[in-house]
Amino acid sequence: MVAVAVDTLSIPGVRSSVRLCRAADIAPLAVDFLHRLPTRSSSDPGFYGAVLWPAALLLAQILNTGPALQGRTSFELGAGTGLASLVAAHRGARAIASDVYPLSLELIGRSASLERPPLDVTTAHFDVMSAEEVPRGVDLLLAADVLYLTDLTRAVARRVVEARRRDCAVLLTDSRKTHQKAFLEEMKALGVRNAYFDERELDWLPTHGERASVLVFE
Ligand SMILES: C[S@@+](CC[C@H](N)C(=O)[O-])C[C@H]1O[C@@H](n2cnc3c(N)ncnc32)[C@H](O)[C@@H]1O
Repeated sequence: MVAVAVDTLSIPGVRSSVRLCRAADIAPLAVDFLHRLPTRSSSDPGFYGAVLWPAALLLAQILNTGPALQGRTSFELGAGTGLASLVAAHRGARAIASDVYPLSLELIGRSASLERPPLDVTTAHFDVMSAEEVPRGVDLLLAADVLYLTDLTRAVARRVVEARRRDCAVLLTDSRKTHQKAFLEEMKALGVRNAYFDERELDWLPTHGERASVLVFE
């Protein structure tokens, strides 16, 4: 296990702050290291899942100001440090945070166990691009900043369409914008024509002026 740092985040609307574990030697926010890279790469260097991304902040903000989630089961794709799942659990959900990156699952488990009583967050290895199904009984699908590789973007679109066919609500946010067009095209190819991205402010943390968008269905 790498050295772990714990950040305390005060999210608008949340009663208590959220403690979030991340790899200590990278940066608190993904944008901090992205801004230091010479160019923004669309490949995944392998540590994307060990830091917090702006879209997770927007997703946390939306979950926090939305209805309570008692009795609901959320499932997060590509959870990374798992902020959205931790907030969903704070809001009463039974949260399942998934990723392919073992370090992400470790970090999320640690964050959940920092609270007393521990938050109801379980972790699962789940590859969005695999044939494995999202477990039955999930009624809220969460995803933040997972639209950054072409194949992954298409697979996420398939997961979103599958979820909606099962009457599962979907909350998907994105800050990178590079693959939103491809995502919406894939959704269209799958028969969903009423979706678009709505851009929102992220003004409660120093994010280098980043904005993030939420997927909306008309
Ligand atoms: C840019 S990070 C976003 C992390 C987190 N959702 C956030 O917003 O802070 C993308 C995440 O997707 C995960 N990921 C990449 N490919 C995946 C796949 N095929 N299935 C599931 N997760 C994947 C990475 O490990 C990483 O945690």
